[in-house]
Formats: sequence, C-alpha cells, structure tokens
Amino acid sequence: MTATPDDPFRLDGARALVTGASRGIGRATAVTLARAGADLALSARNQAALKETAALVEDEGRTAVLVPGDLAEPGTAEAVVDAAATALGGLDVVIHNAGVLPAQDDGTPTLVPLQDSAQVDWDHVLAVNLNATAALCRRAHRHLTASSRASLVLMSSLAGVAGTPRMEAYGASKAAQIALARSLAVGWAREGIRVNALCPGWTRTDMTSFAYSLEPLSEWLMAHVPLGRWAEPDEIARAALFLASPAASYLTGQALVLDGGVSVPDGGLAGISKPPSPFTD
Ligand SMILES: NC(=O)c1ccc[n+]([C@@H]2O[C@H](COP(=O)([O-])OP(=O)(O)OC[C@H]3O[C@@H](n4cnc5c(N)ncnc54)[C@H](OP(=O)(O)O)[C@@H]3O)[C@@H](O)[C@H]2O)c1
Repeated sequence: MTATPDDPFRLDGARALVTGASRGIGRATAVTLARAGADLALSARNQAALKETAALVEDEGRTAVLVPGDLAEPGTAEAVVDAAATALGGLDVVIHNAGVLPAQDDGTPTLVPLQDSAQVDWDHVLAVNLNATAALCRRAHRHLTASSRASLVLMSSLAGVAGTPRMEAYGASKAAQIALARSLAVGWAREGIRVNALCPGWTRTDMTSFAYSLEPLSEWLMAHVPLGRWAEPDEIARAALFLASPAASYLTGQALVLDGGVSVPDGGLAGISKPPSPFTD
C-alpha cells in the first residue's frame, strides 16, 4: 500500500526522541519512525551503536542526532530530553524505551526469586526503569506542551501486567510505568499530550538472548505463547509508531499489550500442551 501525505499512520516532519535506540526494540522503533517521516534524536550509552542506528535513520532520508547518556545517573534523563529538543527544534514524540533486567557484569540476567535477590539489583532496576522514566517525563512535559501533536509512549512490558516470578523488580518497575502513563494521560490530556504504555511479550533482542538461545527454556516459554513464537523488534516498533501517530489520536492512558496472546487466559481450552518447567530449584 502506498502511503499518502495525509496518511494518519505517518509522522512526516515530527521530531521524535527514542531512548534505548542503540539496539533491539529501540533501534527498530527509530528506523520505523524515520520511515514514517520523523526526524530522530537517539539516546543510549553506546555511542558507536547509536551511530549505526543513526546511519539507518539517514538511509530513510531523515535527520538523526545523538543524545547519549547513562540513565542510571541522576540528571541524565533531563539532559537527554533537553539536548534532543534543542537539536531537533522541539519535540512532538517521545518513545521512552530504554530498560534493563537485573544482570551480572557480563550482561547475563540475574533471574532469582525476590527472597534470594540483592537490594542493589532492585535499586539499579528501579533507578533505570522507573526513576529515570519519571525524570524523563517530568522534563519532556515542557517540550511536549509546545507541540500540536504530542505523544509520549513508555515501553513497559507484559511483565507489568502479568506475574513474573524471578523478575520481581523488573515487573514492579514495568507496572509502575503503566500507572505513570495512566496518570499522566489524564493529567496532561487538556494540554493535548497523549500518553500510553506499550507492553511487549517475549521479543527476540539482546535482553532475551539468554532465553531464546537456550533450547529447553525457549521451548518452554513459547509453549505459553498462543502464537507460538518470539516477537521480532519490528513488530513492536510498528505498534510504537501507531501509538505515536495521528492514527491513535483518540487513544490515551492505555496499556497496549502485544504478547502473542500470553495474557489471554485460555483456561486450557486451546489444548496447547506445556512441557515441564526447566527451572529445577
Ligand atoms: N525483549 C523483550 O522481550 C521485552 C519484552 C517486554 C519489554 N521490553 C522492554 O523493551 C525495552 C527495550 O528492550 P530490548 O529488548 O530492546 O532490550 P536491549 O536489546 O537490551 O536494549 C536495551 C536498550 O536500553 C538501553 N539502556 C540500558 N541501560 C541503559 C542505561 N543505564 N542508560 C541508557 N540506556 C540504557 C540500551 O543501550 P546501551 O546499552 O547502549 O545503553 C539499549 O539500547 C526495554 O524497556 C525492555 O524492558 C523488552
């Protein structure tokens, strides 16, 4: 289908900030928004990887600027938002996608029950996933109020709406993002700012490589996904574009769950057989 200039699914001329844009869902989202006509400010820690994303954005004929920073550091979220607005001449769209699981130094996620977990891991996950989200939203408000097509999307998770044993800090941070999106949606509605949360299920990225590369675990996880497979980052990116675009102009305060059907209770009626859990402890 050929896009037309007044296609509500396009973002021609929009100025968009995407955090966590160095890889995974964030990179796919940046490229998808660029393809829809937006100019991009790209944020994450890894500047070399951000430059690769910028090249992909420029391949789509759009502008890309880098606004790097470590969101675990207080003050970074505000600096990133301001730098993005300055570089692009304002902000119409913010896709706050950066996020972490608790992980070891080599990046392998630490998946242990809360009672066996360290407070320092809880603090780090909450600092990046929640405290930085609040700081980023607080600062984004002043820029989004100046836009006539303002949309803020928080990349939450299925973990924010479903029980996630061994990922309690992550699940709590993602549920809080949904609550924040709802509150801001109502609070900012009369200022013309739409706010939504997007809740992906199991998506094939660096964050989940520990799981999809481990056959018994991947097979067990996918047995719980009615569509029976991992999501690809592009599939999440298209939903982010929808939420950011005029196509979603009456949609605010929602948590859009994109999980291949995991969160839909089937009561066992679909007859999908589940292999035994690979967790032995
Ligand atoms: N993959 C899934 O199954 C899944 C499911 C539901 C929700 N999500 C959510 O989707 C979002 C993207 O996840 P992904 O799967 O694409 O993960 P990913 O491949 O691990 O990417 C995470 C992104 O966040 C950035 N980031 C991490 N820590 C940061 C920090 N301290 N400061 C600034 N940026 C930081 C990373 O960039 P640098 O390392 O360069 O800083 C990277 O760009 C996350 O919020 C995640 O919780 C993912």
